Amino acid sequence: MSILITGGAGFIGSNFVLDWFTQHDEPVINLDKLTYAGNLQNLVALQDNSNHLFVKGDISDYDLILDLLNKHQIRAIVNFAAESHVDRSIHGPEDFIQTNIVGSFRLLEATRNYWNDLSKTDQEAFRFLHVSTDEVYGSLSDTDPAFSETNRYEPSSPYSASKAASDHLVRAYHLTYNLPMLTTNCSNNYGPYHFPEKLIPLVIHNALNGKPLPIYGDGQQIRDWLYVKDHCSGIRRVLEAGRIGETYNIGGWNEMSNLDVVNTLCSILDEESPRSDGKSYSEQITFVTDRPGHDRRYAIDARKLEQELGWRPVETFDTGIRKTVRWYLDNQDWVNNITSGAYLEWVDKQYSE
Ligand code: NAD
Ligand code: TYD
Repeated sequence: MSILITGGAGFIGSNFVLDWFTQHDEPVINLDKLTYAGNLQNLVALQDNSNHLFVKGDISDYDLILDLLNKHQIRAIVNFAAESHVDRSIHGPEDFIQTNIVGSFRLLEATRNYWNDLSKTDQEAFRFLHVSTDEVYGSLSDTDPAFSETNRYEPSSPYSASKAASDHLVRAYHLTYNLPMLTTNCSNNYGPYHFPEKLIPLVIHNALNGKPLPIYGDGQQIRDWLYVKDHCSGIRRVLEAGRIGETYNIGGWNEMSNLDVVNTLCSILDEESPRSDGKSYSEQITFVTDRPGHDRRYAIDARKLEQELGWRPVETFDTGIRKTVRWYLDNQDWVNNITSGAYLEWVDKQYSE
């Protein structure tokens, strides 16, 4: 038997697949459409691993999914595949509707068909884990308690609205068809292989290239940062022991304002790779127009996962961000291969003013 990972050439999915093989030898079928965010370079360490099978394809392709499920006797699916960038969803929501809603629906339909034909024992052992986001819960004020699994859904962006829709479908497929579903809602991830359109890798890349470090609005928006390897261990834990039909929040217990994150990055870079003129990278900080519908604060209450399944993140923001900066400094080729062509067009569109 094997597991099917969707979106396993993206940031979190590729970290998950790489980590999987440090813990298991069970085969992984890795299905990814290879959009701008998918990158086979993330998976080069697995090129001689016969337990890793990469398939280029779309989660919306019902026939392909059903074929893969049958052919490889899949016992679990972890669904990472999504359009994931809020700013892109503001410029063009269509792809988000197609992949995050229609794609998730087709993946669920193929799974339902496959699961219905399994033996009772295999049905009971089967799991579908849907990876979602804390952004479905909307925005918190400075004094609100952190998001728990029972918070109402109040998405603000086309991205979070499309993820919310997929979460609802997952819930409905459990309650209506009895499919053995699990959902995880996590906070902002950071770490290796993070595409440099998101805040942390964008700031590292721009700093090293002498470009402005764009802060939206006043920079006082708060995010709860989770090191990607901790997120992967949380997902593995939910997959092996989570209660069917349940949702688990995964967070880093690391709330920080964007401005503090960027200043931290600048001071680590000042130590690790100082500017040639001796000045601090923080001189490159530039305040730019705020994102429309910008959520003020996200914070995750991850006590359910801790109390039920004994999971806690290993990294603090301080340890995780140092590892991350080091990774980017050591992997400039990876960054340079991405930050050409279509990436430049995106940066031009988003930051032209
Ligand atoms: P990402 O954008 O880096 O990667 C997404 C991957 O999905 C890419 O490899 C892309 O090629 C693939 N993909 C896109 N559309 C597809 C389709 N139709 N069929 C098959 N593959 C497709 O995203 P990420 O940051 O790795 O996020 C992974 C998941 O985690 C997403 O579901 C996202 O909503 C969720 N999430 C991410 C974060 C974060 O901080 N990055 C936080 C919370 C939740
Ligand atoms: P991002 O990494 O896009 O993740 P998300 O929107 O899913 O939280 O952004 C993290 C925070 O950083 C968010 O509050 C928006 C802000 N941000 C900036 O201030 N400047 C930037 O150039 C980017 C990309 C993000």
